[in-house]
Amino acid sequence: MRAPWRERNGSFSWFRAAILLAVCSPGVVTAAQYFAGYFPVRPITEIIYATGLWTIRLLMISLAVTPFRQSFRWARFITVRRMIGVAAFAYAVLHIVFYTADNMFDLYKVVGEIALRIYLTIGFAALLILGALALTSTDGMVKRLGGKAWARLHRWIYAAGVLACIHYFMQSKQNVSEPLVVAGLFLWMMAYRLIYWLSSAERAGALTTLAGLGVTATLATALCEAAYYHFKSNAPFLRVLEPNLTFHAGIRPAWVVLGITTTIVIVAAWRQWQRTREAALASA
Ligand code: HEM
Repeated sequence: MRAPWRERNGSFSWFRAAILLAVCSPGVVTAAQYFAGYFPVRPITEIIYATGLWTIRLLMISLAVTPFRQSFRWARFITVRRMIGVAAFAYAVLHIVFYTADNMFDLYKVVGEIALRIYLTIGFAALLILGALALTSTDGMVKRLGGKAWARLHRWIYAAGVLACIHYFMQSKQNVSEPLVVAGLFLWMMAYRLIYWLSSAERAGALTTLAGLGVTATLATALCEAAYYHFKSNAPFLRVLEPNLTFHAGIRPAWVVLGITTTIVIVAAWRQWQRTREAALASA
């Protein structure tokens, strides 16, 4: 098996090494914080939170690779998608290992809790999907399954994304700001793929499409937030929408989604301008 920092031809890749370092660093930082006594109260719970957060973040980043590759015109990005996906699975494994440790490794109790608590059942289903995708992510498995069957199987990543978002929402209880941001960005990525499947990579990666997607995801996030608090605490729908315009309650999730999706448009514009200039210089 090829070391993760090596290219297919066996040469050392700084890009792959940097991404490897980046995906490992949250784990190293959390371990360092644990040993330095940063978590005086319920340290295992803090580790469960950190590993859960990094599972969902890396899962979303792995889903963002295709839109970024196409809209940033950066083909090399695809070479690290597998590494990011496998890292998401590794954090998910740590997440459930620490959950089991928190339950004194009483497997009977853990299995019972997963069967009884719906948010754990949903998280476990997401974990099983990530496991199946990680196990079939090697070059050998791609060959054995065949490109089409492999691609069909790996579409389950979208189901894992939905389940992970639901698990995140359900366990968050009071403050759902970060789950809302994650859900808003997940929606952006799903809408991007829909356009890509229905038309082309060119159309999906066009600046106007990206800008439209950003605005749509922002509005959807604001509406989801209002709907969530309306159904959960009976809060009037418009009362929850209002802080999105006044900033009285700090920066709302919809604004974070707008900030991130606008940054994507700016980077895409810069990259596309750069590529056009390079092409013009090459043909001159
Ligand atoms: C791919 C699968 C999973 C993902 C993406 C995921 C993600 C998350 C996230 C983001 C959090 C919240 C962290 C925070 O609020 O800072 C969390 C919390 C938690 N997760 Fe998961 N999780 C997954 C699977 C599981 C599984 C399989 C279990 C156990 C059977 C589990 C048990 C928990 C527990 C106990 C909490 C903390 C709940 C609390 O005490 O408030 N998760 N997870």
